[in-house]
Amino acid sequence: MTKLEKSENPIAIAVSNRKGGVGKTTISSILTQIALSKTDKKVCAIDLDPQKNFTDSMSLFVKNNPTLLNNLVIKDAITQEGDFIIVDCPPALENQTKMAIEFADIIIVPIMADFFSLLNLEVVFEIGNKLGKIREQMPIVTIGFNNAGVVLSTSIRQQFSERGYFIAGDLPVHKLIPFNMAVGNQWDKGMGMEFRKQFWKLYNDIEINYKKMLNNDIKNLWNGS
Ligand SMILES: Nc1ncnc2c1ncn2[C@@H]1O[C@H](COP(=O)(O)OP(=O)(O)O)[C@@H](O)[C@H]1O
Ligand SMILES: [Mg+2]
Repeated sequence: MTKLEKSENPIAIAVSNRKGGVGKTTISSILTQIALSKTDKKVCAIDLDPQKNFTDSMSLFVKNNPTLLNNLVIKDAITQEGDFIIVDCPPALENQTKMAIEFADIIIVPIMADFFSLLNLEVVFEIGNKLGKIREQMPIVTIGFNNAGVVLSTSIRQQFSERGYFIAGDLPVHKLIPFNMAVGNQWDKGMGMEFRKQFWKLYNDIEINYKKMLNNDIKNLWNGS
């Protein structure tokens, strides 16, 4: 496995879970769109999944929003191009995923209220720890976009935050999300304010905590803004 050096400026996010259907591509696409809406950003969407849903979703998106064409690069391998890099990992833990986890500043592990996606959350932590990432530098965990019963998600959050992991909380579920992402619509088209706020919060948490990481403010990571 070749180690890829990344210059300190860009922020790189890996979205990974060996379980499929947990929302990796959707979260990758939404965060990419939010990053693009900040006009100063050169955004790089890296799609490591052979299903290429992230590629298709983002290609359609810039086709529908041609003014953003020059702000987005879509790649199928890890590269350090861009100010905001998002890697949508395949539902497997082959070398590419390990490289992405090593490369990333922040790792998002979407999970649903099912045993296997939870199991894979532990696996991602294990890989990160082996690669020498300390816990606080590692994860934003987003808890399931559906089926995550309140009781289960509360207990997951408690359990992991006690061990030093940041848990972003439940992502909202909306019936228009699958449609919007599949046809390259803007992710928040037709969504209410309350709904949009939760994804904006995820994005802002990433930016705020990345700045803290750059300033070596490790002890305040994920501790509010
Ligand atoms: N927040 C959400 N609200 C509603 N549906 C969602 C949400 N996130 C994902 N989905 C839907 O769940 C399915 C699986 O999501 P996807 O992002 O493709 O998962 P993965 O990339 O992990 O396989 C898709 O049909 C997607 O549209
Ligand atoms: Mg996917």
